[in-house]
Amino acid sequence: SAVVITIDGPSGSGKGTIAGLLAAKLGWNLLDSGALYRLLAFAARNHGIDLTNEEALKTLAAHLDVQFIDKRIILEGDEVTDDIRNEQVGAGASQVAALPAVREALLQRQRAFREAPGLVADGRDMGTVVFPEAPLKIYLTASAEERARRRYLQLKGKVEGVSLPSLLDEIRARDERDMQRAVAPLKPAVDAIQLDSTELTIEQVLERILGEVAN
Ligand code: CDP
Repeated sequence: SAVVITIDGPSGSGKGTIAGLLAAKLGWNLLDSGALYRLLAFAARNHGIDLTNEEALKTLAAHLDVQFIDKRIILEGDEVTDDIRNEQVGAGASQVAALPAVREALLQRQRAFREAPGLVADGRDMGTVVFPEAPLKIYLTASAEERARRRYLQLKGKVEGVSLPSLLDEIRARDERDMQRAVAPLKPAVDAIQLDSTELTIEQVLERILGEVAN
């Protein structure tokens, strides 16, 4: 079946941007797995489901009515592309992502993205859990300060009330939860190539990865 490149790492490391550019460049499919967790947290709020109600969240995850159309995300018929990008939804995503039944319910949905000619999969556990057989795994990092700065530039003007210090706090808290959780914690796969993007431009990161693809 189709080949997979996994890109994992913490919030703001540039994964999303890099994965999108790489998929476009190769003409491959893209899986933004974080969007699934964000969508689940967002849908749970809409349906009045508590983010600690594992059973209800599991059912919601298994039946989540979502369509990815180009760069647009449609949830239950409504476009939510921008609505799921704020840090409140990110924190909710990180909360539901710690529930084993939720991760299990989303597993097959994620693997279904693997279609010819290939897949670029972006997330936290793409290389460790979802696609452990992937021949190329990237673990992308950057300093917390740099990641908060990038997130700030992304959100200011789009989302109200964002500030750099509060983003840094939120990103640190979310990283902590993602790395400490019992199920699929954020960590590099043993065979992942680790790339620190703190001092690199998007183009430089992309070039490095394309260099690995060519090998
Ligand atoms: O864009 P950013 O990197 O900040 O977040 P995201 O990739 O949209 O992921 C949001 C949250 O979903 C993360 O903090 C994780 O807790 C969770 N997540 C996960 O557990 N596993 C994945 N494969 C992707 C995201």
